[in-house]
Amino acid sequence: MTPLVLTLPGNDRLGHALVTQLGASLGEREVRRFPDGDSYVRIDTPIAGRDVVLVCTLDRPDEKLVPLWLMAQTARDLGARRVGLVAPYLAYMRQDKRFRAGEAVSSAYFGQLLSKTVDWLVTVDPHLHRHQSLNEIFSIPAIATHAAPALAAWIRQAIPAPILIGPDSESAQWVSSVAAQAEAPFLVFEKTRHGDRDVAVSAPAFGSFDNRTPVLVDDIVSTAQTMIATLHQLTAAGARAPVCVGVHAIFAGDAHRDLRAAGAATIATCNTIEHESNAIDVSSSLADAVRRVLES
Ligand code: R5P
Repeated sequence: MTPLVLTLPGNDRLGHALVTQLGASLGEREVRRFPDGDSYVRIDTPIAGRDVVLVCTLDRPDEKLVPLWLMAQTARDLGARRVGLVAPYLAYMRQDKRFRAGEAVSSAYFGQLLSKTVDWLVTVDPHLHRHQSLNEIFSIPAIATHAAPALAAWIRQAIPAPILIGPDSESAQWVSSVAAQAEAPFLVFEKTRHGDRDVAVSAPAFGSFDNRTPVLVDDIVSTAQTMIATLHQLTAAGARAPVCVGVHAIFAGDAHRDLRAAGAATIATCNTIEHESNAIDVSSSLADAVRRVLES
């Protein structure tokens, strides 16, 4: 039986792409709020004995978790063979230790919660810093796909002579991998975070840009303050207006407008969160990972 894809609201484009690439069918469902704020979920397509693929990116996760949980429970209740989740963006991964006494270690708790909700998970470049792998926080099969090949392919075709910039040491590993695949040089800056919207970035000593276009690459763009601080360093050093490339386009509040106003020449993101800046398609690597897990 072909797998059945069920999208949660806001995931239709990626859901359709996965349906096409997996040769799956798209399930009919309704998800809405009652006037009192409770969530309502109904699945209209028969699912008994089928593999169900839920598609729900998890930016702004608090409002999405209850409908997702209700959908997964309903699918199980109606007899689905397995219920998996494609969550291209995984929230809560940055709170991966107790930075101050008494804090929640949210990444671990979030992993436990999703492990009880679905049978498997596929995501894109989760923010793994102190955790080496998703297996440390998930007790179900959890696959992290990588946006680096798609980022590199986009940079190769869109930017004639790029130099890649990672804003902080955490980014070094994967900026170097994107740079290798894009056959471009790279630099890694140093970041100090003083608060949610207060970051300082410093540049290492480097020579001239040799007429190269700086391409800032980061996994998450949330307040965009990391990119804006990096951009200021670059323009102060006489570089041309940088291209800003992010995997996950969270863009909290006016962050997208702020980044444009700060002087970004172009802003391009992957389609892990639907946003007007989406220019880089990661659906085929997600589909490959889903195929692998469905065949296991
Ligand atoms: C954190 O270390 C991440 O890699 C990003 O640099 C960070 O999440 C960006 O956040 P913001 O856009 O709020 O500066």
